[in-house]
Amino acid sequence: MEFTGIDLSSVPNHVACVMDGNGRWARNRGLKRTEGHAAGEEALFDTVDGAIDVGLGWFTVYAFSTENWRRPADEVRYLMGFNEKILLGHRDELNERNVRIRVLGRRDWRVPRRLIRLMDETVEMTRDNTGMTFTIAFNYGGRAEIVDAVKRIMEAGVSASKVTERMIARNLYDPDMPEPDLVVRTSGEYRISNFLLWELAYSELVFTDVLWPDFRKENLFDAIREYQSRERRYGGLAGGDEGPTR
Ligand code: IPE
Ligand code: IPE
Ligand code: MG
Repeated sequence: MEFTGIDLSSVPNHVACVMDGNGRWARNRGLKRTEGHAAGEEALFDTVDGAIDVGLGWFTVYAFSTENWRRPADEVRYLMGFNEKILLGHRDELNERNVRIRVLGRRDWRVPRRLIRLMDETVEMTRDNTGMTFTIAFNYGGRAEIVDAVKRIMEAGVSASKVTERMIARNLYDPDMPEPDLVVRTSGEYRISNFLLWELAYSELVFTDVLWPDFRKENLFDAIREYQSRERRYGGLAGGDEGPTR
């Protein structure tokens, strides 16, 4: 049974995933980097399928970072078209499965207008769905998100003494989005690379050597099992381990 060993009554509410390793997957096969991105499509939708089946409330993927503009122009162009194709190719099915699709990131002039329009339409089309929320972080940077939140707060004329963590959280791109319980990064890289900096303060991190195009729902389930073996303390003490009372 695919959920063996997973406690279905305590799956993480929000899992976020850094889909990394497409280029290396392609290089290992003597293919072009863009073919690695293309192979990531099956990985993504198999994983989304698993995320729905296991009952996640929120599933977020890092699709394009604010730093990925540094890549060669033809790769960037490919990724823009690829994300358009992916949305067009899967949004109807996800809509039928009651998935609410959201996009997280900066809408700047470098993102093709057609892609922005398609994203807006997709978000609108699925906004009232009540199943899992699937968020695509696109042209997303954690630092940019915090800068944008600070700008909004200052533009509202809030005085410095009134600034709180809650206020910053409410001014992030999607104030409804709960903080990720679990962040998974593929491809054996042990870093955050500017993903959800504010939101992952207390997330559990799971790293795997699997390259993204080889990732499947079973790998997500492995990460959830690992998550369930962890103890989250949020700076406090472990349950039942308060120590001697004074
Ligand atoms: C992740 O794969 C996809 C994006 C960042 C868009 P990479 O393209 O970073 O693959 P590697 O890290 O070079 O193998
Ligand atoms: C992070 O991967 C961004 C995405 C997966 C979209 P990168 O491949 O861009 O990160 P670095 O360069 O290895 O830190
Ligand atoms: Mg990479």
